Parts: sequence; C-alpha cells; structure tokens
Amino acid sequence: PPALAGRDFLAVSDTSAEEIRDLIRHALWLKEQKKAGHAYRPLAGKSLAMIFDKPSTRTRTSFEAGMAQLGGHPLSLNRQELQLGRGESVEDTARILSGYVDAVLIRTFQHDTVQKLAENASIPVINGLTDSHHPCQALADLMTVIECKPEQDSVRLAYVGDGNNVLHSLAEAAALTGWELVAATPPGYEPDPVIWQQAADIALVNGGRLHLVQDPKEAVAQADAVYTDVWASMGQEEEKEQRLRDFTGFQVDASLMQLAQPDAVFLHCLPAYRGLEVTAEVMEGPQSEVFRQAENRLHAQKALLTSLLSDG
Ligand code: CP
Ligand code: NVA
Repeated sequence: PPALAGRDFLAVSDTSAEEIRDLIRHALWLKEQKKAGHAYRPLAGKSLAMIFDKPSTRTRTSFEAGMAQLGGHPLSLNRQELQLGRGESVEDTARILSGYVDAVLIRTFQHDTVQKLAENASIPVINGLTDSHHPCQALADLMTVIECKPEQDSVRLAYVGDGNNVLHSLAEAAALTGWELVAATPPGYEPDPVIWQQAADIALVNGGRLHLVQDPKEAVAQADAVYTDVWASMGQEEEKEQRLRDFTGFQVDASLMQLAQPDAVFLHCLPAYRGLEVTAEVMEGPQSEVFRQAENRLHAQKALLTSLLSDG
C-alpha cells in the first residue's frame, strides 16, 4: 500500500497523483485477494470509530466490513449516542477518541466540522461525506472506470446533474488522474467555484481537463463514462420540489446515453431514484456498472485504511 500513515483523508486533493494511483492499484490487488478467498489482516488490533450525522448504507457497511476483513475492529456511532449529541465539542471528542482508537471516520454536514475534528485528533480522520466532498466515493469511482476501461490511459467523463459533493470529489480525482471531465449542471446548481478552480489547477499540472456546461448533451457527447447523482442531497429535503422543476431535462435516459461512446459505462454513487435523475432502463441496462461501483467502495476503502493505518 502507498505509505499514508498518520495522514487525514478529507478531500481527494489531500493525496498526490502518484498516491492515488497507488491506492487504486492496491485496491485492485485487495479485490483479487478477496475473490481468491485469501485472508489479509494487516490491521489486527486496530480500531476505527465512525460517526454518522446522516444516513448511510454503503459507506457504513463497507467500512465496517472492510475493517473487519483487514483484522481490525470497527465501531459505528451516531451523534445521538454520543455526548456530541448533547453539546460536547468536536474538539474534545477528537482528543478523547484519539486515546482509544486508531482512526476516525465522520459523515456530517459542514466540511469545517471534519476539519476541526482532524485538527484536534492525533489520529487519521477520514471524510465519509460532507456537504462539500465525498472523497471515498471518488476512490471507488476511479477504480471502477479503470477496471472498465483497462486499455485507456485517458478517459472522458461526463457528469450530469447537481454541482454537489460527489461532483467536487470526482473533479479532483479526474484532475489528479489526468482525465477529462465535462459537467453539465442547471443554472444555479454549478459546483462551488473555489473547489472547481482548485481542481482545475490540479488538472493543469496533471494533464487533465475540466469543463462546465449547461447542456447535458454537450457533456455526454463522446464520453467514456456518464455519471449522475441525486438531485436533492441529504440535508436538502426541503428544496426537493423546487429542484425537481429546476432539473427538468437533466435525466440520464437511453437517448442521452446514445450520444456517449457505444461502450460507455453508466455510473451513479447511489442511492438512485429511478424516474428522476436516471431512468430504470439505464440503471438496469447493459451499460450500467453501478453495482460494481458500489462493491468497489469496499476494496478502495480497504486500500485507504491499510495505507493510513499500517505501521510501515
Ligand atoms: N454512495 C454512498 O455514499 O452511499 P451511502 O449514503 O449509502 O453511504
Ligand atoms: N450527493 C448525495 C450523495 C449520497 C451518497 C448526498 O450528499 O446526499
């Protein structure tokens, strides 16, 4: 595994191009080991605490199972079960957990909560999704595209939908990998300009290219992979009706997929809402790799955990 011992993973851009490539290589190896039934337990005696302020199926289960498979011990906590839910500070929680466990994962709303946790913890902190970033998802996304397009050095990704956490992390991943990403978002739903500009700067150094457009057809033209995400993210429940109106024309359907390369794959971080951001036909169609992508969360995160937690 790449040596990331003691580091935090709050955003994809916390890693270098080489580190992220090594992480994916290690993830592919871990997947092979698991498929072959070989045990690999480098994290015996290590613990990971996980704090969830939002629901989760994939992140929680894949980290919990992954930690156990690596010989370590996962603890899943939600805010209401912690004194954090009764007003104990993030700073104090960080210092307490640092005395008990070897790493902390947190899924929460504001990105600066995760930063505060990282600043005050003496152990690695992993971002399990904030309103701004979803870096563990991007690791699985990269791994999935690399698996599906093994012969291609350079890939053209299309993203259609909300300029959200998933797009931010995907943009940073594409930038580091030297890929092209064209994102189509409705007016008013563009990615955060600061995060997007930083990703564009990273792309410049690594040979990648990021474009922002408003027409889904323009984004999808000639794409090797077409990616979408929910229109209303966790915490945006009240905006749902407005968003349904504003995202008209942004559904990924079979006719949009036709504009991509004939062998293009369809990706979605899930959960998916069939009939909104994607049709059931595309979700269940031959180009859909969403369940491979979801499985790869496990392997990619095991690579991350071994890199952050191994003794060297
Ligand atoms: N994609 C993803 O992070 O899923 P969960 O919300 O189920 O963890
Ligand atoms: N953008 C979505 C991703 C869910 C995994 C959200 O934040 O709810």
